[in-house]
Amino acid sequence: MPTDTRILLVDDEERILQTYSLLLEDLGYYVRTASQPEGALRLVTQDKFDLAFIDQFLGATTGLQLIQELSKIDPELYYVIITANGSAGLAVESLKKGASDFITKPFFVADLLKSIDHVTKKRELDKEKKKVLLTLETKVSEKTEDMKKTYLEVLSSLAQAIEKRDHGTYGHCRRVSYYSSLIANALDLKENEKSELKAASMLHDIGKIGISDIILGKQGPLTKAEMQTVRSHPQKGVEILKPLKQFKSILPTILHHHENYDGSGYPYGLAERNIPLSARVIAVADTYDAILSNRPYRSASSHNEAVNELIKHAGKQFDPNIVRAFISLKPINIATLSELPAQF
Ligand SMILES: [Fe+2]
Repeated sequence: MPTDTRILLVDDEERILQTYSLLLEDLGYYVRTASQPEGALRLVTQDKFDLAFIDQFLGATTGLQLIQELSKIDPELYYVIITANGSAGLAVESLKKGASDFITKPFFVADLLKSIDHVTKKRELDKEKKKVLLTLETKVSEKTEDMKKTYLEVLSSLAQAIEKRDHGTYGHCRRVSYYSSLIANALDLKENEKSELKAASMLHDIGKIGISDIILGKQGPLTKAEMQTVRSHPQKGVEILKPLKQFKSILPTILHHHENYDGSGYPYGLAERNIPLSARVIAVADTYDAILSNRPYRSASSHNEAVNELIKHAGKQFDPNIVRAFISLKPINIATLSELPAQF
């Protein structure tokens, strides 16, 4: 039985305090006593104890109430309730409310030693449990990091796949992702919203993988049927990503990134706040980059022309708040692929 256990005795009977503190000190234990709850609270604030024996009847306060107060000061302290009332109900309540053991008056020093032994074993077990839990937490966090890395790798290969299929838009997804992140910062979005937006903006056109090269690379205007095929890319994107659990939260963004603020977009003609915020952000970033890029059917425009176009369509195609947030970013970094920060 380890005698380095530091003990606090709390009882309103001075005789009990004196007798048992002397007996325990003779056995080598460090013991302090308190006859009132206030004294116990003061001692636990000032000193470090492993175990407190607490009388259940301490005047206006019960031992169980005192346990609650002491636990706020030292959450690692263990308790044994002492009472003249040896009812099974009180024993159960004591154990429920944080006591590790329960002894009944009159008691002998052997009862105290038995309780110290019991609590010591419980403390060791708890320590062991904490250690195992910590190891598990470390392992889980390492695994999560691994999964995150794999997820980002998958993301980057998928984005590259989109760009290979649609030569006219080389670097488009990464730039849209970059502009979206600037808008996300300006809108002060939460961290999880930012990371979802990043993934969604990288993958918003993934559905183009399912559209023929002939249509994607066609010089000149598309026929009605071809236009319809191109316009199916949001749904195709959802079909591609649906089996992957990691992408579940970004599916609505992918599906609705061509909706217009006034309800004139596709595929569902959603309007205003019915369009997911991240989809409204991507709509602005996507259009900005498209206007700045060379396309088979027209040459690139300048930053000012692109901004004027966004302003012209604010409230129609675009959410005016997002256009405002975007043009407030001064100077907007009209980044070419090589100038993008490494993470994009
Ligand atoms: Fe798109």
